[in-house]
Amino acid sequence: MSEHDLSGKTAVVTGASSGIGRAIAEHIGAAGAHVAICGRTQSAMDATKEAIEAAGGSCTTATTDVRDPAQVQALVDQAVADTGRLDVMVNNAGLSYPDPILTADPEGWRAMLETNVLGLLAGCQAAVAAMRACGATGHLVNISSVAALNPASGVYGSTKHAVNTICNTLRQELMDDPIQVVSIMPGAIATNFARNFDPAVLEGVRAMSGVGEDLEVVQGERLPDEVLTGAQAALSDVLAGPDDVADAVMYAITRPPSVHIAELVVRPNRDLQL
Ligand SMILES: NC(=O)c1ccc[n+]([C@@H]2O[C@H](COP(=O)([O-])OP(=O)(O)OC[C@H]3O[C@@H](n4cnc5c(N)ncnc54)[C@H](OP(=O)(O)O)[C@@H]3O)[C@@H](O)[C@H]2O)c1
Repeated sequence: MSEHDLSGKTAVVTGASSGIGRAIAEHIGAAGAHVAICGRTQSAMDATKEAIEAAGGSCTTATTDVRDPAQVQALVDQAVADTGRLDVMVNNAGLSYPDPILTADPEGWRAMLETNVLGLLAGCQAAVAAMRACGATGHLVNISSVAALNPASGVYGSTKHAVNTICNTLRQELMDDPIQVVSIMPGAIATNFARNFDPAVLEGVRAMSGVGEDLEVVQGERLPDEVLTGAQAALSDVLAGPDDVADAVMYAITRPPSVHIAELVVRPNRDLQL
């Protein structure tokens, strides 16, 4: 049973087929809200839905590519059609291609900008219209990064600087609405975020976990949950867990309406040197 009560509310969480989004969806579901989740991998979303329902929550899934604004709009419309309202929108779907600017494939830049920035903008716009229509005292929760605090954090960091600027601007545009805008900036979290990194990095994560010695680590593919939880347990000083970020989200969205948690940084005690 969650310490928080979100019963009667509806939340949409993008990128909930893995990592931070999955943990946020599970925490919001455990607090009693209906959770509409999206990602591109249906089987992984089914696992999130099963976990939420096993804990007594309610969840629907949609295979959605947030790079297409029409699909984001349809996701929000379906949540409203199913429940009559929208209270929380978590724009979490995101990814990183960490290559140096001078040698990177421009398709990686396009993927990061379209997912991390344009997908989030579409989510914010669709969600505010839905929240206004039902008179919700709502929250837009945008998953940024500590990369937004670093002035030289590459193209990925540029997308997260953009996320923070979008949050600050929306906060002004929503000054007269009962809708708060929360920027969450995680540090290194044990998820599939590193899936597009150098395979040597992924193999390093696998080795840290102490499990999966026979596992073939493939760039672009997910690591099994036990590898991620094992790596986090082995290196908790430099790697936080997705539940730590979900805790911060739950804190931000359960304050009294008079308190606006604008930004939270959630990081492990030490920086991870990859
Ligand atoms: N892990 C970290 O250290 C860290 C630190 C700071 C910030 N963040 C941010 O946290 C957020 C979540 O990342 P994570 O760490 O949880 O990584 P993750 O485990 O790789 O999860 C990313 C999620 O985003 C979804 N996604 C990616 N592209 C999508 C698209 N075009 N349409 C719909 N869904 C899409 C993925 O779904 P599919 O695989 O099904 O496409 C997956 O559910 C991202 O915004 C990331 O930038 C992560």
